[in-house]
Amino acid sequence: MSPPRQPDPPNRPPADAAQSRQVSDRSVPAATTSTPADSAGELRARLDHDVATELAALDSGLTPVLRSGDPGMLLRDLSGDVAAAVRRPPLAAQQALVACRDPNASLGIILDTFRQDPALTQKLLGHANSPFYSAGHGAVNSLHAAAQRVGTGGLHAVLMTAMVEGLLCRPGPEYEVMAQKVWSHMVRTAPIARLLGRTVGLPAETCYTLGLLHDLGKLIIFDRLSALRTATRQTLRLPRPFLTELLGRLHGPIGGVAALAWNLDVESARAIAAHPRTSYRRYQDSWYGQLGVTLEESEGERIGQVLALAEWWDLATIRGEAKEMETFWARSGLTLPIDDCGLALLQYA
Ligand SMILES: [Fe+2]
Ligand SMILES: [Fe+2]
Repeated sequence: MSPPRQPDPPNRPPADAAQSRQVSDRSVPAATTSTPADSAGELRARLDHDVATELAALDSGLTPVLRSGDPGMLLRDLSGDVAAAVRRPPLAAQQALVACRDPNASLGIILDTFRQDPALTQKLLGHANSPFYSAGHGAVNSLHAAAQRVGTGGLHAVLMTAMVEGLLCRPGPEYEVMAQKVWSHMVRTAPIARLLGRTVGLPAETCYTLGLLHDLGKLIIFDRLSALRTATRQTLRLPRPFLTELLGRLHGPIGGVAALAWNLDVESARAIAAHPRTSYRRYQDSWYGQLGVTLEESEGERIGQVLALAEWWDLATIRGEAKEMETFWARSGLTLPIDDCGLALLQYA
């Protein structure tokens, strides 16, 4: 795996910068828990270690035939530098993101970057006119009005949507339906996460964005399947139980690595990495403990819980499964207020 990367600048402009652009502060993400400057490098090292551990566990379960076949090839590919393999977002989205994160950039400059890409323009108007924002306010049809309505957090969410959509790939007919289902689930999870975030006092628009990104690791894995398909000129043949286990084990840490590669802040990357709650305790004693921040206090941990709850709720709804809240809370180690969350989730029952 690659060495730990250098820390990235925070992706969220301070609130006063947002105000100076006359953007509504209704959905501007709050400042995250302060962390030492090298925490991005520490998290990256931790995630690399987790990816290597999971790959070793998967490899140990392979027969010699599978190890020398397509499953072994995929494991060897994923043991390379995943961050370097993460596809870069479209240029217009990258420029818009840089502008959004520049505290000195005016709203006019930010919107100029949006105007370079008609798809971004369309997405911003669509986001501002979604029921969450437009209820009781009517439609907006100018970019300026749309930006004022959704705030900096909303602009960020629009850009992240475009970046993840750019990742949607063609992993081959065998896996295309799976990749599409994952994306649909991510899109459905985002508003549930936003509602939960608002309910428990977390920055709602950040929860929306991270809900949209929470299974980013799965899309990265499908993207690698697509790259291997191109390189070998054939679709990889993977036993379904193997692929299911691989996605389950790896999508958290690989999603965290990809989030850091896209310059998301450490708390957001950690929330994505830790949302599969089987592994959340690992972060307590490692780098998180070293920071002198308890797991329950950190914003990344609470957003990770929101993501876990939102994804479980969506999947249980789609599958028609019973939703045993107390059981899920106990199994996943959640500390969110169960009654408040249950009441809010009735909207999506
Ligand atoms: Fe997940
Ligand atoms: Fe999910």
